[in-house]
Amino acid sequence: GLSRVLGNCLHHENARIHRSINASSLLNRTWSYRFHKGRSNNISTSTDYPEFRDLPHIKTHNDLYKFSIEDPELFWSRLARSRLTWSKDFSTACKSDFSKGKFGWFEGGVLNASVNCIDRHLEKRGDEIALIWERDEPGTHRFYTYKKLSEMVGKIGNLLTNSGVKAGDRVAIYLPKSPTAIATMLACARIGAIHSVVFAGFSADALAGRINDAQAETVVTANQTIRGGKLIELKKMVDAAVSKSPCVKRVLVYYRTEAKVPMGKLDIDMTKAMVQESPNCPVVERNSEDTLFMLYTSGSTGSPKGITHSTAGYLLYTNVTFKHAFDYNVGEKFGCVADIGWITGHSYVLYGPLSNGGTTLLFESTPLYPDPGRYWEMVERLKLNHIYLAPTSLRMLLKSGDEYVKKYDRSSLRKLGCVGEPLNHEAWEWYYNVVGERRCDIIDTWWQTETGGICISPRPSEIGADIQPGMPMRPMPGIDLALFDSQGKEVKGEDVEGALCIRRPWPGMARTIYRDHDRFLKTYFQTVPDVYYTGDGAHRHKEGHYQITGRMDDVLNVSGHRLGTAEIEDVMDDHPDVAETAVVGFPHDIKGEGIYAYVVLKDGRKTKKNELDQQLRNAIKKKIGGLALPEVILFTPGLPRTRSGKIMRRILRKVASNKFDELGDTSTLSEPEIVDFIINKHKELL
Ligand code: WTA
Repeated sequence: GLSRVLGNCLHHENARIHRSINASSLLNRTWSYRFHKGRSNNISTSTDYPEFRDLPHIKTHNDLYKFSIEDPELFWSRLARSRLTWSKDFSTACKSDFSKGKFGWFEGGVLNASVNCIDRHLEKRGDEIALIWERDEPGTHRFYTYKKLSEMVGKIGNLLTNSGVKAGDRVAIYLPKSPTAIATMLACARIGAIHSVVFAGFSADALAGRINDAQAETVVTANQTIRGGKLIELKKMVDAAVSKSPCVKRVLVYYRTEAKVPMGKLDIDMTKAMVQESPNCPVVERNSEDTLFMLYTSGSTGSPKGITHSTAGYLLYTNVTFKHAFDYNVGEKFGCVADIGWITGHSYVLYGPLSNGGTTLLFESTPLYPDPGRYWEMVERLKLNHIYLAPTSLRMLLKSGDEYVKKYDRSSLRKLGCVGEPLNHEAWEWYYNVVGERRCDIIDTWWQTETGGICISPRPSEIGADIQPGMPMRPMPGIDLALFDSQGKEVKGEDVEGALCIRRPWPGMARTIYRDHDRFLKTYFQTVPDVYYTGDGAHRHKEGHYQITGRMDDVLNVSGHRLGTAEIEDVMDDHPDVAETAVVGFPHDIKGEGIYAYVVLKDGRKTKKNELDQQLRNAIKKKIGGLALPEVILFTPGLPRTRSGKIMRRILRKVASNKFDELGDTSTLSEPEIVDFIINKHKELL
């Protein structure tokens, strides 16, 4: 209930503040700096928001923000009409009903996302570069112009249609980051099919679960992928998944490498079949509120949820936030290194950059291959102007020393973005001083799979410091933030903390959880009535700047990847020797958060503990994927519980974090001696 969730937040039991960015360390820092390259609070009428040129009261970014909150319908309607290309104009800007979790933007309008991302740029920018494919093999990048991308999308669109895919059908995409993956997503958009991209690091079982939940008849995959020089047998994984997914009628296989793979009766060699198809694919027009795509993400309970996004609202929101959060100018090369299996890849590799006619990078490799200089060597070779990455990779790279950065020319870089987890001070300073040579703005962006695009980031403002380390700072236009306490009462003023909520609908917000609107309503709109509940805690500093303190629920953030503790517990609980489990997060130097599993075994089991440890790890790898493997598995005869039987996760988290003196009063537990056992065992494992 409300007070449970919010109470946790208030007492900091659950808001797992990254230890080096907690509020007190931040308050000691008074320094900040102004935006580089003359970005001021005054709106430049030619480049920033020309749509509001005729409104005399909008002169600054703060004026614009205020206007966006006071008159969101006018604000978003003007942007929608000027930034997107419509086949039919819309009639209403926004319809919303928080009590039902129902939202609609630009209804009556008709458009197509692939037209907005490709066709409308062809005349002027057809020969410009749309995609830079930074292949795993260092130094072997390839350029794809808008014309070339258009042909690929046309051919894949026709191939999908001719194979029987219709508007509204779900297409599961399990592909490495490649032009084929982008073209397949856009081909789905073109024919009105709903893409559901599954990160190629998830296991066959995880893929099968997502295929089945979406009832996808079509899977698009590759024979193999190559990451950090290692071959991964992707098609084999798909074969295993499809054997558990009776709904699948066809599997398109793209040949990323030369290797032959067994082809069954459902399989279509995509590379060959595309040769036969025409590059001109008819557009299937979509209504504004038709689903553009779905993407699975973890919640605090249950199986991953299929978050669905709309066509018009999502496209507009990624288009606008991409341009203004990063101050992107057409012609610049934008390098978001996230995989397309995550929302960051959807919004800021594909839809934001391409709907703006931009040039976007597809990074197929890893930051450490062939050495920790890969990002910066790539920046020099490709002359990237923006880079957008996860704090976890910065924490990893800064340990390898500055030489790997300094030996490459980074003078092309202008903005340095990050997303996914708090950017701690050490990483912030390294990014700013070493990578950016104190020349580039650090753009820390806060958002979620559910928000569709960036909601908080350091945009220009006349109030106070322009950019302050350690926080994403200011709400983007149209985003009305509020904090709430454990009673569901709004927390006002400055230097306060609470549950981060968004009070007004915005075009990019998720519309539902696929086939489970009830869960959507409960998760996001009922904890605090009449607002969108993010699940994160936040601290509002002086001048209204927001700092994120961490999740307040049982969602983990491991290397910027969202994982539900319940998902990992479920896998371990299935083991015949396991009685029960509890998974918690703990602060981890590089990953941000590590996974710590407490496991209670059944009496009379036969398997040895070290074998069990391995079996549990294998099961997690098989059911979810390597990214969910625990750092520590601790076997214990029991778990600390209240007298009413509730597992005290707070205590488990404190032990995992070595905070033995912060356990609080344990005398009220049903078996206080369990805590001593766990502490001793934990110390042994260290
Ligand atoms: C966390 C990723 C601190 C947060 C786009 C959120 C952040 C979750 C930041 C969403 C940030 C994201 N500072 N924490 N700048 N950005 N988060 O759905 O806990 O994969 O709720 O979307 O990541 O993760 P998701």
